[in-house]
Amino acid sequence: KQGSTLRPSSFCAFQKLGGKGTVSAAGALVPSGLQTWLSPACCPHSNSCRLFYPEDPIKIVRGQGQYLYDEQGAEYLDCINNVAHVGHCHPLVVQAAHEQNQVLNTNSRYLHDNIVDYAQRLSETLPEKLSVFYFLNSGSEANDLALRLARQYTGHWDVVVLDHAYHGHLSSLIDISPYKFRDLDGQKEWVHVAPLPDTYRGLYQEDHPDPAGAYANEVKRVVSSVQEKGRKIAAFFVESLPSVAGQIIPPAGFFQEVAEHIHGAGGVFVADEIQVGFGRVGKHFWAFQLQGEDFVPDIVTMGKSIGNGHPVACVATTQAVARAFEATGVEYFNTFGGSPVSCAVGLAVLDVLEKEQLQAHAASVGSYLMELLEEQKAKHPIIGDVRGTGLFIGVDLIKDEATRTPATEEANYVVSRLKDYYILLSTDGPGRNVLKFKPPMCFSVDNAQHVVAKMDAILTDMEEKMRSCETLRLRP
Ligand SMILES: Cc1ncc(COP(=O)(O)O)c(C=O)c1O
Repeated sequence: KQGSTLRPSSFCAFQKLGGKGTVSAAGALVPSGLQTWLSPACCPHSNSCRLFYPEDPIKIVRGQGQYLYDEQGAEYLDCINNVAHVGHCHPLVVQAAHEQNQVLNTNSRYLHDNIVDYAQRLSETLPEKLSVFYFLNSGSEANDLALRLARQYTGHWDVVVLDHAYHGHLSSLIDISPYKFRDLDGQKEWVHVAPLPDTYRGLYQEDHPDPAGAYANEVKRVVSSVQEKGRKIAAFFVESLPSVAGQIIPPAGFFQEVAEHIHGAGGVFVADEIQVGFGRVGKHFWAFQLQGEDFVPDIVTMGKSIGNGHPVACVATTQAVARAFEATGVEYFNTFGGSPVSCAVGLAVLDVLEKEQLQAHAASVGSYLMELLEEQKAKHPIIGDVRGTGLFIGVDLIKDEATRTPATEEANYVVSRLKDYYILLSTDGPGRNVLKFKPPMCFSVDNAQHVVAKMDAILTDMEEKMRSCETLRLRP
């Protein structure tokens, strides 16, 4: 029943009970209302969906600010949820949704101030050229529409992406996500992969005189080989800061040079800001702006943080791209996208960002957290690299400095031990060895001190264990 501690493993097999509920494998009656999330599709035994900490999952029942609370009332510090951008269940965002829900929630075929006001507010954050907005419900929908826009505008079909990228779960996006398609039926003939501009472990590293130019030349090489095959580039898709790929900070100037090569081939530049937009990077509102004032993408996709947990997403583009899309004569309709409620939520998120000055807060707390982590790097040789900007930070754990081999097991161990201190952190990167920080933007200086003190204790203890040749076990 609701509030009980049913563990997922105890409700894997189901038997329908004529609308009253289901019987779990353990024989417990599961009321009808719970069936949606207890359905076999959510069952970890199917291995399609994963829980955090599968060996000892947490049942979260409440969230507030940067904290999550389990059913016993234990408080966890959330260092990873970049969807709860302005804080879990922020009262002003919840109130905006509630108030608008009481008045009207319908599709965007009627005139409504919210959608106009929202597009206007978003346009104030972006370069002038990006002045047309499409509203949707998820990051995947946004990237899928970006792909359609790019193909329609250019009349081309092929896409260039960075290695290890993830752009969403729709079929079209699995196809352009090496992170996913490498485990499936492989790379489609219209998808082309360029090396990740990772200056720590990639082809060109921090000692290279011009890593931006060198990595952009790799994209140019990919573009040329595509053209030699008689194929044509519709788009270059890139996360403005590749996150799944390991919290990577592309060298400044890389995007400008890539855009030149892509535009030269008749394609468009799509910046995926789904994880990293809305002030997270501190210095700027959009992560692509880290590349320099002179850089403007042709399409920007937004999701996750945009609605603070409410399903909102957006594609921003130029008049020229939008006009080419219109020219098909095919209507763009999205049942929920751009509803008055979604737009009210989006507006409230922007209001809170402004009122609580969360972008500036991310800049100052983020640089303080980086300083603390740099001190840890000097103390613990397992920390090979600390990189980041604002509240988007990666701590790259390595086996040894000479090879920079990912310390995967050790990273898992740190994450698991932090949970014992009620701190939620996670790993990313192809080696799953990069500890990633992307907390709600209200993450504080005290939170930073707390998590780094615990990391220090865990790493010190781990080093002692390794010296005495003890095997690391996931649970200490
Ligand atoms: C960079 C990036 N793009 C797109 C998506 C897809 O967003 P959604 O899960 O909202 O469909 C994700 C989700 O993790 C993402 O990280």
